[in-house]
Amino acid sequence: MRAQLTDIVMAYDEAGSGPPLLLIHGYPLSRKLWAPQLAALGDAARVIAPDLRGFGESDAPKAPYTMDQLADDCVALLDSLEVTEPVVVGGLSMGGYIALAFWRRHAARVAGLILAATRAGADSEAGKAGRDAAAATAREKGSEAIIDGMLPKMLAPSAYADRPEVVAEARQVMAGAPVPGIVGALMAMRDRPDSTVLLAEIDRPVLVIHGADDVLIPPSEAEAMHRALSHGRLVLMPNAGHLLNLEQPARFNAEARTFLTAL
Ligand code: MLT
Repeated sequence: MRAQLTDIVMAYDEAGSGPPLLLIHGYPLSRKLWAPQLAALGDAARVIAPDLRGFGESDAPKAPYTMDQLADDCVALLDSLEVTEPVVVGGLSMGGYIALAFWRRHAARVAGLILAATRAGADSEAGKAGRDAAAATAREKGSEAIIDGMLPKMLAPSAYADRPEVVAEARQVMAGAPVPGIVGALMAMRDRPDSTVLLAEIDRPVLVIHGADDVLIPPSEAEAMHRALSHGRLVLMPNAGHLLNLEQPARFNAEARTFLTAL
């Protein structure tokens, strides 16, 4: 499905009915990431999964983007779908950075947060330099170079040995990411503010869920967020890497369902 927002067309999937659950993908991914949740959680929630600007089938205007803009795009999508009640905002990795921006800018619209495979802090100086280097690679060599570089870090190490179908799925979720989207998101991540101070003020339930084998964002980041939250639950999923919802969908969906029904 597609929605015309102020300056872009945003593609999205929607399934089920009930309290709204917005699922925000990470970088350099697409809404295909959430296929196992769209398939399974529709009896517990109205699940809405957009392609962020620059990814999947959404328009990809020129870089740079900002986290605030990406969060505001999600709000504009909710408005266009006439979702007026508070929403559970779930985000994976960069999607989590956007979920925290959503909270900072639109707290009244948040019923709860699912922070998956993410962190609250900003980029270090070395991290920022890495974003610039990745943007240069994307511009010079195209998006396949970025996807080839990311794929070996997306899953638990054991998945590359034992689960070729999950590796293929992860590649599919990244396939076709356009260069403007990759560069735009890299700039947004490089310049994002530190959201650590926000955590203590979040007065809604928060599920912090992380793969124990995540090599892109270590589980210690999830533990640190959980310590700073006053309404947080921490789940560390064994045998799961960065794309934990795709790698271990049954466990992820069970945790999400428990969280949603307790709200
Ligand atoms: C993501 O998966 O969204 C990104 O790898 C996060 C990041 O690079 O900080």
